[in-house]
Amino acid sequence: MATAASSLHAASGNGRFNDEASSWDSNPFVHEASNEALKAIVSRFPALRNPPAPDKALDVLEVGCGTGLLSFMLAPYARRLVAVDAAPGMIEVLKTKLQSRDAAQNILPVAVSLENPEDKHLPPADETKPDGPRLKFGLITSHLVLHHIPDLRAVLTTMLGCLKHGGSVALTDFEDYGLEASRFHAKAKMDGVQRHGTNADGIERLMSEVGFVNVRVERAWSMDKVVEKYEGEFGDAPKGPRQSDQGEVKSFPFLLCTGEKKYCL
Ligand SMILES: C[S@@+](CC[C@H](N)C(=O)[O-])C[C@H]1O[C@@H](n2cnc3c(N)ncnc32)[C@H](O)[C@@H]1O
Repeated sequence: MATAASSLHAASGNGRFNDEASSWDSNPFVHEASNEALKAIVSRFPALRNPPAPDKALDVLEVGCGTGLLSFMLAPYARRLVAVDAAPGMIEVLKTKLQSRDAAQNILPVAVSLENPEDKHLPPADETKPDGPRLKFGLITSHLVLHHIPDLRAVLTTMLGCLKHGGSVALTDFEDYGLEASRFHAKAKMDGVQRHGTNADGIERLMSEVGFVNVRVERAWSMDKVVEKYEGEFGDAPKGPRQSDQGEVKSFPFLLCTGEKKYCL
């Protein structure tokens, strides 16, 4: 029987992530992209470079964690890292990786499409009150996810609701810098793509409109990717053998979008 998360996921066109989950980590591009995201995030948040005492360390929420590539990199900096993904298949792969003996112990995998800061799938703020208000986070990250979200205003509002006062978001995605950005995905990978990257002016405006303060959107890095020379060149399968003469290399800029929830005394 379909779970609420899986049927919602299929409805949003993101169902391909269940199919791709088991082979996701075999793509070097996603590892490199997560590495670059980590570097960009750590460079903007000195508290991550110099972790404070454990009792003051950050609770981190990662939205759209996939198989946990960035989650594993961020976990050493966090007290607890809640890794949320709407594709149960992705979360199953993450759970398997967490069973390894030397895996991080502070990652909590959750299969949910996050639409409500008080969603009961999130941990409670107070462990002695399991049905009470949900935990609020010091940092929320999301990497290569925004272009899959149908309603950005809604997801940003949910993120704001999941933050502590004074907490921050650090959202990374490839940039929608014009027509050529549409070449980021091969034709067979368009399922669930809502737009071709994140537009810098648009996301900056939207973050301010929903209530983030100190909003900053910057080009943080660029990455080479093998793309189709013409639409459909790589065929119909989302992932399959590619011949050596197929595709061409193109460089894509990535954005780091940061903002804070206003601090209240
Ligand atoms: C391109 S993948 C990126 C995964 C991972 N961040 C990485 O870079 O390896 C996008 C992920 O976002 C997830 N996703 C899309 N919309 C979501 C939502 N509303 N809530 C949680 N996850 C979502 C998808 O299920 C998918 O696993």
